[in-house]
Amino acid sequence: PQPLRVALLGAGTVGAATARLLQGRADLLAARCGRPLELAGVAVRDASRPRDGVDPQLLTTDVEALVDGADVVVEVMGGIEPARTLIERALRRGVPVVTANKQLIAQRGPELHAVADGAGAGLHYEGAVMAAVPVMAVVRESLAGDEITSISGVVNGSTNYVLDLVARKGVPFQDAVRQAGELGYLEADPTEDLEGLDAAAKIVILARTAWDLPVALEDVQRQGISRLTDADFRQAAAHGTVVKLVASAWRSRAGGLDRVEVAVRPVALPQDDPLAQVRESVNVVVIEARSAGTLRLQGAGAGGDETASAVLGDLVRAVRSLP
Ligand code: HSE
Repeated sequence: PQPLRVALLGAGTVGAATARLLQGRADLLAARCGRPLELAGVAVRDASRPRDGVDPQLLTTDVEALVDGADVVVEVMGGIEPARTLIERALRRGVPVVTANKQLIAQRGPELHAVADGAGAGLHYEGAVMAAVPVMAVVRESLAGDEITSISGVVNGSTNYVLDLVARKGVPFQDAVRQAGELGYLEADPTEDLEGLDAAAKIVILARTAWDLPVALEDVQRQGISRLTDADFRQAAAHGTVVKLVASAWRSRAGGLDRVEVAVRPVALPQDDPLAQVRESVNVVVIEARSAGTLRLQGAGAGGDETASAVLGDLVRAVRSLP
C-alpha cells in the first residue's frame, strides 16, 4: 500500500523525539498501522537551525502546504496560535489530528471536537495529559461502561519535584524552586507550573472526557504553590503529612443540575496516601469508578520520548480508524 504522509508540526523536545521514533520504528509502526508511514515534513519557524536527529531536508517553514499535503497531522508546536488554526484546517479536510497541546485542548477542545465531528476526522490527545501514562484511554475507552465518580492526582511533575526536595531533602522552598528551574524542570514560563495552570489544563481535559459535560479552565478552583512558605512545610511535617499539589475532579448536583467540580490546590496528605508517595517528577492519578473501584496510574508525566510514545500511540489509533 501507499505510505501515509505524516505532517509533523514542531521540532522542540517532543517534536524531535517524535521524528526520531517515527523513523527509527518505521517497521514496527507499519505493521501496527497496516501500511507504512512516511514523515512528509517537519514544520518549524527557522529551518536553518539543526534539530537533534531530524533530517534537515525534512524541515520546512511552509506549514500550510505541509498540512494540505498530509494524510495525518501531528501537532507538537504548543501554544494556541497558529496551532489551533492549523489543526482546524486539517480537520476541515477530514484529516485526523494528533496533538500533545494541553493548553489548546483545555481552552479550545470543544470547538475543535465540533469541527472534527462535522468532518468525520479524529482528534487525539493522549500526550496532552501525563505523557505516556495512558489515562485518557482509560477514562475515555476502558471505563466507557462504568460511572467514574472522581479523579485526583499529582499531574505536574515540576511542582512535585520542588515539593519533594522540600519534604525529603529539607531544602528551603525558594531554593527548591530555583534548583528546579536550573535543572530545566520548570516550563519556560514557570507560572504555568507554580500557579497550577498546567495541572488545571490536565484536570479539565480529564473531567470533560470522564463526564462529557462542559468544563472550562475558568471553572477550576485554583491555587498554586507559589505562596507556600517554609512554615507551611514545617507544620505539615509536624502533623505527619506531606504537601502535594493535588488536581481533582468530582461530580456534584446543584439546583437539580449535574455539575462537575474541578480544583487544583496544595493539600497536606497523610504519608500513606498514594498521592503522597510520588517522588521527584513522577505523576500519579487515582480514578474511582462505581464498578471498577479504585484504579491508580503512575509514571513519568513529561519528557520528549515519554510524550512521543503517547503521540505515536495516538498516531497508530488515528491511522487504524481511517476508512
Ligand atoms: N511542566 C509540566 C510537568 C510538563 O512537569 O508536568 C508536562 O505538562
